[in-house]
Amino acid sequence: MGFAKDFVWGAATSSYQIEGAAQEDGKGQHVWDVFVKEPGHIAEGHTGDRACDHYHLFREDIKLMKEMGLMAYRFSIDWSRILPEGVGRVNEKGIAFYSELIDTLLQHGIEPYITLYHWELPYALHQRGGWMNPQMVEWFGEYAKLVAERFSDRVKYFFTLNEPQCFVGLGFLTGEHAPGIKAPLKDTFAMAHHVLKAHGRAVQMLRQYGKQDLVIGYAPTGSMCYPETEREEDVEAARQMIFSMSQEDRNWTWNVAWWSDPILLGHYPEKEFACYEKYLPKITDDDMKLIAEPIDIYGQNIYNGRCIRMGKDGKPEEVPRYVGFPRTAINWPVTPECLYWGPKFLYERYKKPIYITENGLSCHDVVSLDKKVHDPNRIDFLARYLHELKRAAEEVDLRGYFHWSLMDNFEWAKGYTERFGLIYVDYRTQERIFKDSAYWYRDVIRKNGEDL
Ligand code: FCB
Repeated sequence: MGFAKDFVWGAATSSYQIEGAAQEDGKGQHVWDVFVKEPGHIAEGHTGDRACDHYHLFREDIKLMKEMGLMAYRFSIDWSRILPEGVGRVNEKGIAFYSELIDTLLQHGIEPYITLYHWELPYALHQRGGWMNPQMVEWFGEYAKLVAERFSDRVKYFFTLNEPQCFVGLGFLTGEHAPGIKAPLKDTFAMAHHVLKAHGRAVQMLRQYGKQDLVIGYAPTGSMCYPETEREEDVEAARQMIFSMSQEDRNWTWNVAWWSDPILLGHYPEKEFACYEKYLPKITDDDMKLIAEPIDIYGQNIYNGRCIRMGKDGKPEEVPRYVGFPRTAINWPVTPECLYWGPKFLYERYKKPIYITENGLSCHDVVSLDKKVHDPNRIDFLARYLHELKRAAEEVDLRGYFHWSLMDNFEWAKGYTERFGLIYVDYRTQERIFKDSAYWYRDVIRKNGEDL
């Protein structure tokens, strides 16, 4: 028992967070390139212009992945690097970069997993309305087609979108992320519908133009829930809560069901649909068919969860966290149970093989006097979380785990102030140093989690 023999141990990154070379080799601009340049948007005025300079250092980085024993690497393609205007003209230099990245991974025996969209919306498309424009569905499809044509001879695994919850919620409701807009609710529901349709269109294009049988998934996030006790009523309360939606309308994107039910079950969650109907665009049967284009695997980014019990009134309620509850450097709660109950509830509802496409934490990592980076908190966090994941692996079809992140990187609005990596990056010199957790993770991989 434990993890399946072919369980995939990997790590994840995204293009803007690591690549740098923001103005090189014909790359177009995307919404983050523009957003970071305005004062007040990013902590300490940081930008991703240079980031980890992975664009130039990717060969060295792949050597480090190999040394860590990674079996797989999840990265994203910067749409504007290969299609500078979002559609039309192809930038061959951008294609060459990803092509070489893929070849080098394969030479090192590391399986590439591509995310099509990790928030890098080409600025030229944003100017044409971006996600507000229904044409985004076809634009995203065209981009997916190009990716399939150029890379799917060597890459078998694809995820369409990373965390629509975030790029709609933070990008268009709170305005904390690019493009920094506080849109009316009505617009955000319309966008979300286009986002889901774009996902479906990308699945169709990947299948149609794929050069082998592709394995296609989706990588949303959402708050997980776990029961306070294993009593059936608490389990039921957690199950109801994980698929319910926020009570606050302007917080509506933070949920699982709105973003996953249409894709996996072919319809929006009924109760919520009724509740939000006043904001919704026209939705047709053909739309729903497109959105529910069959996928093969289900990815979920899981960082934490809420503890739930059945209240005396027969309604699920959240158990308040005690004073001094453990938190990571970025102030996210440490709740290992979410890696057991999350996959369990998701599998029950969606019945698809599951990958944890992201999980991890930021710590206040520093280089010590002995020149090493000691991160006992990360090891402790991982030991707890992966132990729970192992329990899940014994009950559900769990295929893989991608740690967020391979290396410290540009953490969006927090700039470089949060360190999520297994590898420490000195941004002054671009030196990489394995943190203690990287060695620890290497052992986990070697033993396929036997000791967890
Ligand atoms: C997720 C994002 C990823 C990174 C981690 C910490 O929401 O997908 O890019 O920012 O959080």
